[in-house]
Amino acid sequence: MLVSAKEMLDKAREGKYAVGQFNINNLEWTKSILLTAQELQSPVILGVSEGAGKYMTGFKTVAAMVKAMIEELNITVPVALHLDHGTYEGCYKCIKAGFSSIMFDGSHYPIDENIEKTKELVKIAHAMGLSLEAEVGSIGGEEDGVVGLGECADPAECKAIADLGVDFLAAGIGNIHGKYPANWPGLRFDVLEAVKAQVGNMPLVLHGGTGIPEDMIKKAISLGVAKINVNTECQLTFAAATREYIEAGKDQQGKGYDPRKLLAPGAEAIKATVKEKMELFGSVGKA
Ligand code: 13P
Repeated sequence: MLVSAKEMLDKAREGKYAVGQFNINNLEWTKSILLTAQELQSPVILGVSEGAGKYMTGFKTVAAMVKAMIEELNITVPVALHLDHGTYEGCYKCIKAGFSSIMFDGSHYPIDENIEKTKELVKIAHAMGLSLEAEVGSIGGEEDGVVGLGECADPAECKAIADLGVDFLAAGIGNIHGKYPANWPGLRFDVLEAVKAQVGNMPLVLHGGTGIPEDMIKKAISLGVAKINVNTECQLTFAAATREYIEAGKDQQGKGYDPRKLLAPGAEAIKATVKEKMELFGSVGKA
């Protein structure tokens, strides 16, 4: 079922668990994530960055693939198809292409411009039945060309954005896309608490889910985080399983070079990673 992410995240916040957003890159990624969500009876959010959308030939292709896959695989758990770190133009494209949720990342604009553009997009997204995620403070590191310095969010600015009626909010709390450096000081729970005090029951989003220690994930959920984004970790496990297959010479045995065989270990590895995260986030059985 393709649905907006609002209801599943409101339920997650109330139930003190988080729904995983897993970014997709191709058919294998999408299939592995959907099958795992169905098997575990977990709601799920498929994240699509603008770069990944372009790679898959455009947002229309992505929406058509996801909708058809949900039908042909008999996926009955709630699935949201969500634009990740969308530009203003990208949001309009995804609304038109049939996504069920968008993130407008206006964090690099001056706050007044972020507010103005977010306000406009909330109105349009809601009129079309989509949910909208906004961002205040930037996520450090780089993801598909989106670079952030990792400034922590200003709680007063979070309130100004939350008051626009956004459905969930990504507030920078020292989280970083990609691998965390060895000297990373950890999540700023003081900032998370201050943000929560300003925005009340708004579900909060934790980007950069790869490599955050389990105890920090659990504490973040207890403080109002209801959506956690994971991208790099699936890429790492896919790459490791594929390397193992090739280094073992399996692509040279029989028809081991067949792409359906060559990509299978990576696809299975993604399933295992998604399962592990859904268990950690507490979303298993919450469909
Ligand atoms: P990671 O790649 O660090 O898991 O971050 C994913 C993310 O936040 C997508 O927006």
